[in-house]
Formats: sequence, structure tokens, C-alpha cells
Amino acid sequence: MKEPGMLKKDIEKISKLETPKELFAFLENEAKSFSAMELIRIFVLDEVKRKYILKRNIARKDSASSIKEASFSLTDPLIKHILDIKKPFLAREVDENIAVALTKERQGFLSLVKNKLERMEGEVCLPGFAKEKLLTVFILGKKLSEQDYANEEIASFSLVAQHCAKLINDFNAVKKEVELFVSSIRKINKALEDKDVYTKGHSDRVARISVIIGSQLSGELEKIPYGEISLYYAAEFHDIGKVALSASVLKKEDKLNAEEWKQMKRHPLESANIIKPLKKWLGDIVVEGVISHHENCDGTGYPYGKKEKDINILAKIIRVADSLDAMMTDRPYRKALAYHKAISELKAGSGTKFDPKVIEAFWEAHKQGLFKEVFLSQMESEG
Ligand SMILES: [Fe+2]
Ligand SMILES: [Fe+2]
Repeated sequence: MKEPGMLKKDIEKISKLETPKELFAFLENEAKSFSAMELIRIFVLDEVKRKYILKRNIARKDSASSIKEASFSLTDPLIKHILDIKKPFLAREVDENIAVALTKERQGFLSLVKNKLERMEGEVCLPGFAKEKLLTVFILGKKLSEQDYANEEIASFSLVAQHCAKLINDFNAVKKEVELFVSSIRKINKALEDKDVYTKGHSDRVARISVIIGSQLSGELEKIPYGEISLYYAAEFHDIGKVALSASVLKKEDKLNAEEWKQMKRHPLESANIIKPLKKWLGDIVVEGVISHHENCDGTGYPYGKKEKDINILAKIIRVADSLDAMMTDRPYRKALAYHKAISELKAGSGTKFDPKVIEAFWEAHKQGLFKEVFLSQMESEG
């Protein structure tokens, strides 16, 4: 096992990570090899709740920690102290400060700080600032060697805390910009859903179903920076390009003729065109997820007839979610299917229309009853 001072090499790796999620995953996976301390607790500012919330507990197995949930308000003594001194500090230093405190009030305040740190089993507290805003608080537990932390070790971990704050700051900025753009294209989506009653609520349900399936695909979304957000938006806007279709094609009860079908097949590309600006923040994958949402694993889909290995994971998930919702909804040309019928159709399409891995994840979500949240009323009426 390396001592915490070893972090130099790891810091190089850490500095290349692009999102807070990746950083947390790295710390969790590598903790055994680099952390020679009992635990690392990471608190992150939640701007809506106005609290620092315990996001990750990275504890060594042999020092299992009982604290699962914790938070500090903005006026918590520990937070106030961090904002006062703006640098890492040790529990021992707080003790020393208490001993030399000039007033009872100051002594009382510092004792509260000490107390908070003790409750978190913390030996060291490391703030992470970005643009002068305190975004993260790292609390390190005792070293396994029972020795004191060396300055170099504290400096190394402080860099990690700072990088974490930077990633969170970047992430929040991306989130804000994306939300602004998304709120503008949601208006287009709404116009589409108003134009075609059969698609009312379709995009919202497909987005929710996709995220449920994605949550059962262990590790797949983690490989993509902003994986879950990209999946959500690609799913929400997969059909937005249908806005370019004429109402007669959109609502046609009979089979589409060759020309109309040609128009229909263009909608994934039209959708991609509309959401293209998302590429800047979320990367190409979000647009590719939209373009390929009608591709089949066996190459019989559209617009390009891509095969399994060439279809991206977001598209494969949306393909399943979209089909489930389409089957569960009345369409101009047929009535909605019952839930149990729809899910067995999906299963039957594994390996031809649908990716077997995605169907497995879908089935797992079904077994856990996760789709109830989306289709509760239909499922209840079916009994
Ligand atoms: Fe579509
Ligand atoms: Fe769709």
C-alpha cells in the first residue's frame, strides 16, 4: 500500500478526469491502493438545498463507517471556520486554537468545529474552492499507520479537493447552459405534441424509461462523460424532427406511401439537426444517439441500416424505450397493447431489433417493478 504522499502520479491521472462522477469513481476504485487512511468523506454544495451534502463515503473495508447521510448547513460552524481560514486544517490545530482562544465565545465556537469534525471521524479537513466559492469539503480519517499527516500528504489531497471543486464548477456551468438551450427546444417539442395527440407525453416517458433501463446497464453510462444527462436529452428529443413532417403524414391512419415513408425516415436526421448545439457541451454521442434511434441490431433499421456494433449505446437504449412506449399507447392505426404483451414483444426482439444487453437490463428493471412509475395507471387497469 502506498502512503498518501504517493498521490503525485494519481494526481496526474485525476487532473485528466472530466466530470465529478469520474473523479468519485476513480477515488472509489483506487482508494485501496493509494489511501493509507481510514476514510475519505466528500461533501458537495447543493445550491438548491443550500447545504453541503455527503456525496461519497470512501471507507476501507476494515473500517466500515456507520455514517451514511450527513450534511452541513451554510451557517454550520465547520463551514464558517473553513470560510474563515480558507485552507486545509487538522483536528489537532483546532485543539491548539481552542487552548489559545482569547474569549469564551471563540472557545465555544471552535469546540463546535472540533465536535463536528470528530463526529465525522475526521483528522483533516480540506476545502475545495472554485471562483472563490466553497464547493467541496473533503474530510480525511485517521491514517492507518496512526502517524500524523505530513504536510506533503495534506498538500496532495488538497489538490484533489481543488480539482474536484473545479470539476463541479465546470459541471454546474455546463448544466446551466444546457438547461437554457433545452428549455428553448422544449417549446418545439411541445408544438409537435400539440400537433399530434398520439405523441402527447411520449418524449417525457421515453426519457424516463431510457434512464430506468440505463440504470440497470452497469458501467455503460459511466464510460461516457455526462452519460446519464446525454441519454435523457437524446431520449427526450429523439422525435423532435417530426415537427418538420406534415400533419397528414403524422396522423395518417393507413399505411404510408413510398414518398411519405421517405419523409418519415428522415425524422431522426431532422431531430439531430435541431439538437446539434448540445454537441458543444455533451459531445457527439448525444446527436448520434438521436440519429440511430430507429436502427436495428440486425441492420434492418433506418436511416442508415447500421448493425449492432456500429450503433451507439444511447440509441440502443432509446430504441427499446421508444418501442415500449409506442406499444403501450394508442396509435392512429392500432390500440395500445397490454403491458405484459408489450414486454414479451420486446423480449422476442432481442438480437434482431434490439440489443440483447439492453433487453437484459430492461428485463431486470421490469422484474424490479421500475416501470410502474411510468405506466402505473395502465398497469393497474390491467390488474
Ligand atoms: Fe422516432
Ligand atoms: Fe418515438
